[in-house]
Amino acid sequence: PHTPVRFVQKETKSGIQSVMHCHINSALACFHDALELASDQREIQHVCLYEIGWCSMIELNFEDAFRAFERLKNESRWSQCYYAYLTGVCQGASGDLDGANRVFKDVQKLFKRKNNQIEQFAVKRADRLRKVSPTRQLCILGVIEVLYLWKALQNCSSTKLQIMNQGHVDEPSCRGLKHLLLGSILKCQGNIRDAVQSFQQAIRDEYGRQINSYIQPYAVYELGCILLAKPETVAKGRSFLLQAKEDFTGYDFENRLHVRIHSALASMKEVVPQ
Ligand SMILES: *[C@@H]1O[C@H](CO)[C@@H](O)[C@H](O)[C@H]1NC(C)=O
Ligand SMILES: *[C@@H]1O[C@H](CO)[C@@H](O)[C@H](O)[C@H]1NC(C)=O
Repeated sequence: PHTPVRFVQKETKSGIQSVMHCHINSALACFHDALELASDQREIQHVCLYEIGWCSMIELNFEDAFRAFERLKNESRWSQCYYAYLTGVCQGASGDLDGANRVFKDVQKLFKRKNNQIEQFAVKRADRLRKVSPTRQLCILGVIEVLYLWKALQNCSSTKLQIMNQGHVDEPSCRGLKHLLLGSILKCQGNIRDAVQSFQQAIRDEYGRQINSYIQPYAVYELGCILLAKPETVAKGRSFLLQAKEDFTGYDFENRLHVRIHSALASMKEVVPQ
């Protein structure tokens, strides 16, 4: 039966409004309803699946996230490579490591847009995880990394942040990443002092840097933002931000960081006239 588009749109719209207000559970309910109503409207289904995947990751509900992304990986025309990577980390995080390994192999096969930075990142990450043979904790770290890069950590509840904070990863090549993510989690939890320490550790991690060149500039930026927020360290914060901008090049998501640095510096100018 054909469901009038306006009903589906209404559910989808309520879902998006709930996400914006951080009511993740009501958002999920709306998107599930809309998904059912949109049984013959592929594009709307994909919007719903995307949102269900993200809300489920924010909720650390890895199983639901992986099912949503798996369908997108199979059906979407946008980036099956990226969805395959999200499927893999969520599937591994849910405990199905064999399944995750199979999907990580697909990531390379689905790599179509060679100049797309998200697909490049997905391929690099999937290869890395296959090389070290992924553990559940490493896959969870992969999910947290995606939440961090897409600025969704700040939308996670304190309960979920607490769970993330307790993860254990010993893989040496991921040490820098672990410190960067831990710093960001601590910052979201309001524990600024420990966050600063974690960012400093991330900056010092030379080994991880060779594999993961974005960690250092991002950690320098994070430290800069924290310093910028306190009147007595504004100048120091500013110099960290400039360092993050000027001292590094050729890393993943470089443009994205430049945009963030630019807006951090611009927000400072509003407060402190130069
Ligand atoms: C996420 O959190 C930020 C900062 O608290 C807020 O501005 C933004 O609207 C939130 N986004 C969503 C999708 O909930
Ligand atoms: C996706 O495709 C794979 C391989 O064809 C299949 O095994 C799996 O059941 C499909 N999953 C979904 C959710 O469509």
